[in-house]
Amino acid sequence: MPESASYASRFQDQAEVEAYESKEYGAASYATHVWQWQRPVLEQIIREFLRGRKAPARLLDFACGTGRVLAAVESLAQAAEGVDISENMVALARAKCRLARFKVGDILSQPDILQPAYEIITAFRFLLNVEPALRGRVLRKLREAIREPDGLLIVNVHGNSRSLRHAAVAWRRWREAAQPTQAMLNEMSPAETKSLLRTSGFEIVRQYGFGLLPPTVYRTPLRRPAAAVDKLFAGETPWRNCSIDLMFVCRPV
Ligand SMILES: C[S@@+](CC[C@H](N)C(=O)[O-])C[C@H]1O[C@@H](n2cnc3c(N)ncnc32)[C@H](O)[C@@H]1O
Repeated sequence: MPESASYASRFQDQAEVEAYESKEYGAASYATHVWQWQRPVLEQIIREFLRGRKAPARLLDFACGTGRVLAAVESLAQAAEGVDISENMVALARAKCRLARFKVGDILSQPDILQPAYEIITAFRFLLNVEPALRGRVLRKLREAIREPDGLLIVNVHGNSRSLRHAAVAWRRWREAAQPTQAMLNEMSPAETKSLLRTSGFEIVRQYGFGLLPPTVYRTPLRRPAAAVDKLFAGETPWRNCSIDLMFVCRPV
């Protein structure tokens, strides 16, 4: 049993793995829209970081899951590695990635699972839903594994409590009280996320935001104009603190 049992065990379930791959990341899902805006920005950040670098760079995608992020970025670095606690998630990642190597395990109870001094670490869709008590502990493990002084951590939080999504979350929380489901209704504010990153040993050097309009609009006939508006306001804009999906680029301090 891994030390971090609850969130860690969720994606051991094959039904959760399939739902994540085919529903959460189905062709027209909200998450897929966000990834379409986020992916080129992430690739550009990594390319810029590696430009002119002489020594080979190693990339770690922590909590790599089904390999969505790793498949996009594995070819940018000289070596890429995915680590996740779920063998079932990693099975999909292995099928998608051509170059990356994989390790299955828990970084909290198996410290040897990470190598030292990765130039780039990505951690997507992990922080928000893992138990709050584990967020700092995992980030500090990543801090130990990042190259000093110039490694790069790119991390996202996909439920900003200061975004327009908050109203829908509050409503669903109220409904959940009467009829509990397995819905993930966690939120973090930009200030809370920044504070967590700082106390875990990182300095934030860039901040991006993706998705201003409530995801419910994407389930209406207004989906296409909404996607056009959100695409326009995606990235390093003045509205990034109000975006649903926050992405931070950090350095170790
Ligand atoms: C929502 S998925 C995100 C997957 C991928 N990063 C993405 O953005 O598509 C969260 C992942 O975190 C993994 N996970 C949960 N606890 C973990 C832990 N303690 N160590 C490593 N991975 C963990 C789960 O197995 C799952 O694959």
